[in-house]
Amino acid sequence: MKEENIDFSVSKNVFYNPDMTFCRSMSSLAVGAIGKKLDVCDSFCASGIRGLRYAAENKNVKSVTFIDIEKAAAKLAEKNAKKSKIKYKVVEGNISRLAFEIAADFLEVDPFGSPAPYLYDAFRFFNPKKTAYLSVTATDVAVLCGGKTKACIKNYHSRPLNNEFTHETGLRIMVKKIAETAAEFNMGIKPLASFSDRHYLKTILEVKRGAELAYESMKSLGYIEFCPSCGYREAVKFPKGKCSCGKKTDYAGPLWLGEIDNVKFIEKMEKLNEKRNYLHKREITKFLGLMKGETGMPPYYYNVHLLSKRKGKGYVPKMDEIIEKIRKKGYKVSRTHFSPVSIKTDAPYKVILRS
Ligand SMILES: C[S@@+](CC[C@H](N)C(=O)[O-])C[C@H]1O[C@@H](n2cnc3c(N)ncnc32)[C@H](O)[C@@H]1O
Ligand SMILES: [Zn+2]
Repeated sequence: MKEENIDFSVSKNVFYNPDMTFCRSMSSLAVGAIGKKLDVCDSFCASGIRGLRYAAENKNVKSVTFIDIEKAAAKLAEKNAKKSKIKYKVVEGNISRLAFEIAADFLEVDPFGSPAPYLYDAFRFFNPKKTAYLSVTATDVAVLCGGKTKACIKNYHSRPLNNEFTHETGLRIMVKKIAETAAEFNMGIKPLASFSDRHYLKTILEVKRGAELAYESMKSLGYIEFCPSCGYREAVKFPKGKCSCGKKTDYAGPLWLGEIDNVKFIEKMEKLNEKRNYLHKREITKFLGLMKGETGMPPYYYNVHLLSKRKGKGYVPKMDEIIEKIRKKGYKVSRTHFSPVSIKTDAPYKVILRS
């Protein structure tokens, strides 16, 4: 098998999904953008393709520790790492046990489904560290993004919303859970790059030790209040329960209301992407550009089809038309990587409806 420049073996008993190549490329760019020397731990490694790529593509990776609970995966990762030139160690075992024994600067958490049960383990890898980096994937999108409210409350202690901007609230619920866990370890979080793609949600964060930093992170938590009747939405500390249209509101949260991307960091990823010949180079350029444009914007977006319906318009205006109209009124507007038919803007809802 070949992924980017890595020749590696797969086996029918060990998980490998070529559809995650885009995610691995984005993550590898993030590893490079960190710049500092890193001891990486690929803690749900399967074939080891993530760790192999991170080390082969980035000069700042000093070593990789591969972990998998399955014997077949650990054996395969060993075989694949042996062929490479990287400094590595493969450990067969449960990360919940090994977290006490292994230290990492950059930890990859890429389990099947929800990362929630592994977040306490993740922070144990950072025990001796003042600063570290955590990369988390969630494939339980149905839970985080609306459909399964009870499961989301149970696993993430937050209420999701199954509406037009559900993918952003889902991602922000995941980031909230990470911030809460970090805080219990006296660490604050700074999301560097976060995105929703295909069937997963991904965030890569810097975590720093300090009680004050942990408390600061907690201040970024809140709710998104949403009126299913008129479509009004707002980021709030606590939901009020009633909309100005007179109807009852719904809400998502608690969730992370702070930035989910860091502009300087994304720019570093963009520069690295320019130098690499990834299969998804163009898609990545587009994605990173959109993510950058979304910083400083409210933590939700508007689907233009639903906006037209709410305005009672029989046709859907072109995206550029709406964007231009709102911009002319003096507000910020951007497209969003979450949805090709949606916009983000800081304009008041009344203004958006009139545009
Ligand atoms: C989604 S796959 C990882 C895919 C891989 N990172 C990639 O990019 O191809 C999840 C892997 O985690 C392993 N795993 C599941 N629970 C684990 C645990 N508690 N500790 C360590 N590994 C675990 C599984 O055996 C499986 O190989
Ligand atoms: Zn309303």
